[in-house]
Amino acid sequence: MDRIRIVGGHRLNGTIPISGAKNATLPLMIASLLTDEPLILENVPRLADVILLQRILGNHGVDLMIAGKRADTDPNSGRTIHLSAKQIVDTTAPYDMVSRMRASFWVVAPLLARMGEAKVSLPGGCAIGTRPVDLLIMALEKLGADIEIESGYVVAQAKRGLRGGRIEFPKVTVGGTHVALMAAALARGTTEIENAAREPEVSDVADCLNKMGAKISGAGTSRIVVEGVEKLHGATHSVLPDRIETGTYAMAVAMTGGDVVLQNARPELLMTALDVIRKAGATVTSTNEGIRIARNGSGIEPVEVTTEPFPGFPTDLQAQLMALVTRAKGTSHITETIFENRFMHVQELARLGARIRLYGDTATIEGVSRLRGAPVMATDLRASVSLVIAALAAEGETMVNRVYHLDRGFEKLEAKLNACGAQIERLSA
Ligand code: UD1
Repeated sequence: MDRIRIVGGHRLNGTIPISGAKNATLPLMIASLLTDEPLILENVPRLADVILLQRILGNHGVDLMIAGKRADTDPNSGRTIHLSAKQIVDTTAPYDMVSRMRASFWVVAPLLARMGEAKVSLPGGCAIGTRPVDLLIMALEKLGADIEIESGYVVAQAKRGLRGGRIEFPKVTVGGTHVALMAAALARGTTEIENAAREPEVSDVADCLNKMGAKISGAGTSRIVVEGVEKLHGATHSVLPDRIETGTYAMAVAMTGGDVVLQNARPELLMTALDVIRKAGATVTSTNEGIRIARNGSGIEPVEVTTEPFPGFPTDLQAQLMALVTRAKGTSHITETIFENRFMHVQELARLGARIRLYGDTATIEGVSRLRGAPVMATDLRASVSLVIAALAAEGETMVNRVYHLDRGFEKLEAKLNACGAQIERLSA
């Protein structure tokens, strides 16, 4: 297995291009199942999760063509992929695929809406606490699906097609909102989705579905209305920039000090996180190119933060923020309200010298003046990158093991950081 070696203590200066958002790319690719015409996605990041989803969709009969592989193509621009689900050859998504990437469960919605049936494995355990799919199933039932659980599979049927209905989520769910949107797009009649997720990736998917002929209004608010249509057609859509990657590099710069432009980043996608980064002592400015982050001289200030659905502080930046405030001049509190057990990074950060105590869903982080490099283990996607942030500011060498988690969500992490003066390299096994 690959490892990443980081020698800390270098400030970051330069430009980091921000890739297309992983969390929009995955549902957008899945939406290709809704039509027999090609869906062309631009600005797709090169990530392990995208490659895995290509294989999963291939299994259902989606033809995939990747453009932009020529040698003279800018290596930092995203790829363009053509997905064509002319014929769905299989409506089953097996356990060995769904268990490797939770979001692949969402294929249940387009398969059911277009083919009237889907058999999709339950996703199974996950490193960041129980992540049930009860609300996704509830949404499909409200649209008239018959659902049984058989031998670990969700077997969904709607032989006479789905029909519009009222879906009220008792809790904000991003996956539930994606599933409801995709299913309702091809249902007969009107669907109202109440307490919908307002995440920018939901709006991006709704925009793309509208380009494909869907009639969706209200995406980006907590009430979305979908007028079902009989058929969707092909479209071309460019994936929005990754706000989690943006926030991650912003925190890396706040951690090491320096001055970096996050190219293509859009501040409105992460206002709450940028406010927190400002409170922690960095300067944040919007520029024509993207977002400029700098910290020179001043130390890191402690923060009080609670994770919340969008537009609140994202759970996907919680681990990175915790890494940042391990070196604050005082005590910080970070409360995680979205996922229980999303604190695996705490033990690993402690190996670098961080002082963190956990009480229930709140971490108390007492800032220390120095961290020291050590061998650490990447446990999940966002936890792994928090270790990289801490290591960039630690004295000496940190070896991050199990880096495949990083490859799932961060495109060219080492190259982007090295170009700004970090000392980070991948050691292949
Ligand atoms: C998505 C993101 C993930 C992010 C999360 C929250 C993708 C590919 N993943 O995950 O990076 O951390 O949103 O912003 O976009 N829940 C239920 N029942 C359900 C579904 C969810 O109880 O049927 C709960 C979950 O356990 C969790 C909360 O709802 O406590 C939010 O989960 P959800 O928004 O659905 O997360 P994902 O869509 O899986």
